[in-house]
Amino acid sequence: PTPATSVKLVLLGEAAVGKSSLVLRFVSNDFQENKEPTIGAAFLTQKCTIGERTIKYEIWDTAGQERFASLAPMYYRNAQAAIVVYDITKPASFIKARHWVKELHEQAAKDITIALVGNKYDLVQDDDEGQGEREGVRKVSVEEGQNLAAEEGLLFYETSAKTSYNVNDVFIGIGNKIPEA
Ligand code: GTP
Ligand code: MG
Repeated sequence: PTPATSVKLVLLGEAAVGKSSLVLRFVSNDFQENKEPTIGAAFLTQKCTIGERTIKYEIWDTAGQERFASLAPMYYRNAQAAIVVYDITKPASFIKARHWVKELHEQAAKDITIALVGNKYDLVQDDDEGQGEREGVRKVSVEEGQNLAAEEGLLFYETSAKTSYNVNDVFIGIGNKIPEA
């Protein structure tokens, strides 16, 4: 078997958008309804097989609370990939995501792969059969996310850490953009 490619990945985004929950879903296929805020940052690893390749993600899950903002550069400085997360029911979190993308483009590695992720898709889903959306809950449209991603050259997904919707796809999408070691 071919050796795993190690990829340093950082998650950034406003507090409570679901960064740790996305990682928990990806690493342990689990979800916690009342997850505690991250203090400083958490480090986790997870392997991901994409076709013939194995990628070993070395994940820095940063704290979104404002008092930890000064720590972020330590974690994104050496990152090959970043996931910038917002909550599709919270417009302020989308504004914050824009700022993170700008900061990454100014301060992170030139060839960093960035995925923009609008999380908590389950909250806008209609109760019956997942057809259509509940009125008024969504505050950031799919188009707003797509447009930012297109302007800035980012991958884009809407996800739910709660239902697992699209969570693995984010990591597969990033893996596909990482060149062979
Ligand atoms: P910080 O560590 O403070 O930056 O927050 P975070 O971005 O890591 O958020 P966290 O994963 O701790 O989730 C915050 C809250 O949102 C928790 O109560 C989670 O259960 C909830 N949550 C996370 N993802 C989802 C989701 O996809 N859907 C729903 N309904 N709730 C979610
Ligand atoms: Mg967290």
